[in-house]
Amino acid sequence: MDFKKEIERRRTFGIISHPDAGKTTLTEKLLLFGGAIQEAGAVKSNKIKKGATSDFMEIERQRGISVATSVLAFIYKDKKINILDTPGHKDFAEDTFRTLTAVDSVIVVIDVAKGVEEQTEKLVEVCRMRNIPMIVFINKLDREGKDAFDLLDEVEQKLGLQVTPLSFPIGMGYDFQGIYNIYEKNINLFKGESKKRIADTISFDDLSNPELEKLIGDKAAAQLREHLELVEGVYPSFDRESYLDGSQQPVFFGSALNNFGVRELLDCFVDIAPAPRPKKAEERIVKAEESKMSGFVFKIHANMDPKHRDRLAFVKIVSGTFERNKPYLHVRLGKQLKFSSPNAFFAEKKAVIDESFPGDIVGLHDTGNFKIGDTLTEGEALHYRGIPSFSPEHFRYINNADPMKAKQLAKGIDQLMDEGVAQLFILELNGRKVIGTVGALQYEVIQYRLEHEYGAKCTYEPFPVHKACWVDPEDPQGDEFQEFLRVKQKFLARDKQGQLVFLADSAFSLQMVRQKYPSVHLHFTSEFN
Ligand code: G4P
Repeated sequence: MDFKKEIERRRTFGIISHPDAGKTTLTEKLLLFGGAIQEAGAVKSNKIKKGATSDFMEIERQRGISVATSVLAFIYKDKKINILDTPGHKDFAEDTFRTLTAVDSVIVVIDVAKGVEEQTEKLVEVCRMRNIPMIVFINKLDREGKDAFDLLDEVEQKLGLQVTPLSFPIGMGYDFQGIYNIYEKNINLFKGESKKRIADTISFDDLSNPELEKLIGDKAAAQLREHLELVEGVYPSFDRESYLDGSQQPVFFGSALNNFGVRELLDCFVDIAPAPRPKKAEERIVKAEESKMSGFVFKIHANMDPKHRDRLAFVKIVSGTFERNKPYLHVRLGKQLKFSSPNAFFAEKKAVIDESFPGDIVGLHDTGNFKIGDTLTEGEALHYRGIPSFSPEHFRYINNADPMKAKQLAKGIDQLMDEGVAQLFILELNGRKVIGTVGALQYEVIQYRLEHEYGAKCTYEPFPVHKACWVDPEDPQGDEFQEFLRVKQKFLARDKQGQLVFLADSAFSLQMVRQKYPSVHLHFTSEFN
């Protein structure tokens, strides 16, 4: 197969949702359709169960599983599908944000009863900012939930999306009979009381046909006609270009658990979802079809075995063909590197591969060369952007608890931060290290891993910070900025990239700084120009 065709057949995407909406179940059903697994239950949930905050075995188990399910690949209708797994637990939200830099589209799963939840809002906002094409899957239609139109309104309002339903439920919960597929113009009905089985798909392009009454009953037929008329009147019709540029989001309804509406979703997905998209590097926009290989690291995973401290760096191929044993330029280090055993992922297995194409994810064994965001090329000094840091929610001083192991501690902190486990800030005033995390759970993960992988011990001390703000002065030499630096010295730190950060101790002090130094812009993310 030629290079262009290989690119065209790739679909690399992520599934995002609030925990419990059904992401794992949907992933599993997609794999079943793709023939990548044989039975339900094969994909383990990668979420940390509630109440497991101090259960280290659970954390370790999570790490193990998340390597296995980091990338799930399968072939469906001759398309190579790569699903990039995103952690469900909110304490690992940064991992999810980073994974979103490597996807070409996403599927958003929403629970029909719960509607739009907090985590979904945050993740969708990141996708919206990047104009990532999104398809919405409203799940658990076998249960009583919100009215379909109310839910569509909620999705539009809370998530700021412009939806267009491509399927519509016939009843819901107890009365749920099936789905009308607007995209394919056919009906899928549940069979039997158990609502577990699916009858054949019935083509139905003329809804005025009285056969509809026979199929679903008078009341449901009248209601479906009314609903679809309303859909047609209220929502714009599907436009692929608008979907691809992120300005329109198709919606499907179904039940992942009962495998209902999933095939419709997948069939439409392979049809409309984008092949690998051009990616913006600092220097220029890089197209997938370019012959020279380029890619970037979006995730690093430490080895489970503490005796072998190698790590697996996940590289998304952006352009060209990645080849085994070919030297590539590690742009940040200015160093040529060769990889003798790059891994590709297939369902739950990994295997050494000879070549990979744009859209694919390659796992490279690393002994400490890689950081998240690093770029590999065939010589050009490209820097892929788009892996910003967000202000953490929690901040603590980290102290060395074993003076004999200061070096190990420094190395451990350094490497864990490269992996993106948390963010390190070094105070300008005294050089003390502050660790910022999204969730409190990370502090335990860090302490545990420092001890078990690096032989170092640490303690934490509270450090009250409201928000970390990246500092962006209009005039770095100006008096206003110089005064800000002097007066706020105690609250200034450098992040791992050396960028200046203001650690505001309260919302009030943040507001005061903004009023007093209007030319010193403060951003909640490290990427602002
Ligand atoms: P997540 O990855 O988004 O966190 O969600 P997951 O798939 O683990 O699903 C969360 C719960 O919702 C699971 O139940 C799952 O069985 C259920 N679920 C998923 N899809 C549907 C659906 O279409 N209908 C209904 N009724 N339930 C659905 P659980 O009891 O938490 O876990 P389990 O014991 O079933 O594994």
